[in-house]
Amino acid sequence: MTPTEKRLATHHPDKHDPGTVGEATWAVHGGNHVDPATGALRGPLVMANCYRLPDDPATMDWSGAGELMYSRNGGFNQHALETKLAAMEGGGSAIAFASGVAALHALFFGLLRTGDHAVVSTVGYEAVWRLLGDLLPKRYGVEATFVDITDHDAVRAAVRPTTRLIHAETIANPTTAVADIPALAEIAHAAGALLTVDSTFTPPPVYRPLAHGADLVVHSLTKYINGHGDAMGGAIIGSHVLLDPIRADALVDVGATLSPFNAWLIMRGSVTLPLRMRQQQATAHAVAHYLAADPRIAFTAYPGLAGHPHHALAQRQFQGNGGVLSFALDGPPDLQNSFVSALRVITSAVSLGHDETLIVHVGTDGRAGTEHYPAVFREYGHLRLSVGLEEPEDIIADLATALDKVMP
Ligand SMILES: Cc1ncc(COP(=O)(O)O)c(C=O)c1O
Repeated sequence: MTPTEKRLATHHPDKHDPGTVGEATWAVHGGNHVDPATGALRGPLVMANCYRLPDDPATMDWSGAGELMYSRNGGFNQHALETKLAAMEGGGSAIAFASGVAALHALFFGLLRTGDHAVVSTVGYEAVWRLLGDLLPKRYGVEATFVDITDHDAVRAAVRPTTRLIHAETIANPTTAVADIPALAEIAHAAGALLTVDSTFTPPPVYRPLAHGADLVVHSLTKYINGHGDAMGGAIIGSHVLLDPIRADALVDVGATLSPFNAWLIMRGSVTLPLRMRQQQATAHAVAHYLAADPRIAFTAYPGLAGHPHHALAQRQFQGNGGVLSFALDGPPDLQNSFVSALRVITSAVSLGHDETLIVHVGTDGRAGTEHYPAVFREYGHLRLSVGLEEPEDIIADLATALDKVMP
């Protein structure tokens, strides 16, 4: 090896490992490789569909995911991102997917067989309702019971001998109910089941479910981990034993593969994740307190507020309370719409965890599971606000101006 090659090959595992360095350090260095061909400090974007085979390709596992062979099975940028995500969450392995929903589908499709049963939170991302309340039960004979995941007696009562997994969101979209991960892990493991956790609202360093008993963690990378609203992606993180079969099914045989470009974008976006989370959580805290103090606001749901039903749990469990809150003006749907239209800094759009503040008005009907939402959500509908990186004063002033306009 020439001195130059030696220099290029130098690996700094310490810089990558959340166990040995601080959060901002691993966020910068995790999964990154100095490119041996050019010496470029950031791993390059590799758009190739195929990689050169070894001299004797017969030695390869053709259906194997993880080998650099064909990009549907995995590519250089996808692997770099997976390495980073696994280290971030403290898992042995990670799989990157084309979207968060592709990750959720791979999780349930990969783990559940005909006759298997899942216990699922009544409040959560809508696709979970579709997958476990409709598609997998009707087409493949999987069974699911939806329960209030914060009621541990109800969770215990829902468990059956065939229960294979319990699934919850750390902070539920959109009610902001908080799942007690160690308690749910205990119930799942006592029943011989797995606990799978969607931690999209609480990415590291806010929370690491695997360290507290969860078996698998899911993320919509589209949200905080990318953070810039310009790429979709999803991931499952956990042990090799659980993930290797899911990887083979979902990538090789279903093809829910993340594109190299999106992997590269998400890798770049994730560099600032700890900084962004710190800022967005601080601003969300200020915004939630501002809204909660105004009598024109019917309700504000945010775990950082002392009146939130799971405030104490959130303080014990997370570093912060996330950057998303739900609220409603004390008035009919038209008023909520006029309020959103009067906003100038905040943008009306779905999604969350972006650099810009996003708001979406969600009405009271038409969505699966809304009958389980708290009474105020059912009465008013809700506005889901994902707090961004703008100046906190500008966000609050925008809300105040729009509120004065529609409720003078
Ligand atoms: C908690 C949660 N999980 C999963 C998803 C799905 O992710 P994607 O939109 O990347 O498919 C979302 C999307 O809003 C979400 O909020």
